Amino acid sequence: TTTAFAFVVAAYLLGSLSFAVIVSKAMGMADPRSYGSGNPGATNVLRSGKKTAAVLTLLGDGAKGWVAVALTAWFGPRYGLGEQAIAMSALAVLIGHMWPVFFGFKGGKGVATAVGVLFGFNVWLALAAIATWLFMAFVVKISSLSAIVACVMVPVYAYFITGPASPYFGTCIIIAILVIHRHKSNLIKLLTGQEGRIGEKAEKKG
Ligand code: G3P
Repeated sequence: TTTAFAFVVAAYLLGSLSFAVIVSKAMGMADPRSYGSGNPGATNVLRSGKKTAAVLTLLGDGAKGWVAVALTAWFGPRYGLGEQAIAMSALAVLIGHMWPVFFGFKGGKGVATAVGVLFGFNVWLALAAIATWLFMAFVVKISSLSAIVACVMVPVYAYFITGPASPYFGTCIIIAILVIHRHKSNLIKLLTGQEGRIGEKAEKKG
C-alpha cells in the first residue's frame, strides 16, 4: 500500500542520517571516512580517541533503528499495517544506514542500527545480541569479529524468541546477511591477522 511505502521511505531517510559523520562534524572532528577503517561507525569514531563522539554515534545510529521500527509499530496499525510493514521499515532503516542518500551512498556496517531495530522487534532479542557482542568483545577485543558472531547468532535467538513463523525471524536472517556482507573488508583483515583491537587509535585510512 501507499502508506506502507511512506513508512519505508521515512525509515530509509532516517537510516541515511550517518551519526558518525554528523557527530564528528558537530564536534569539530575529522570525517570518520578519512581515517582508520574509513567506516562511518562508532568503532571507527573511537579510533579518533574521542570516546564521547563514539558513544554518541553508537546511540544515534542505534536510536534511529529503533525509531524507524517503533514509528511503524505505533502508527502502522491505524493504516492496517502490521508486522510485515514493521519488518520492511527495519530493513529500510538498515539499508539507509548502509547506503545513505545524504552521504553519497557511502554508509556504515549497520551493527548499531541493527541492534536498535532488534529492540523494536523484541527487547530480549536485542539484549541477547548485545550480550553476545559484549561477550565476544571481552574475549577477542575485536569489534568486527564480535559483530559477525552476533550476526550469526541473532537468527538462532529469533527462532526461539519470536518463533520461526514470525516475519521477524526471516528479517533477522536478512539483517545478518546484510551486516556480515558489509564486513567483507574486516573478514579479509581477520583472516590475514590485520584487524585491530577495539580502541586502538589510527591516524590515516588503512
Ligand atoms: O561497527 C562496525 C564494526 O563491526 C567494524 O568497524 O571500523 O572496525 O571496520 P570497523
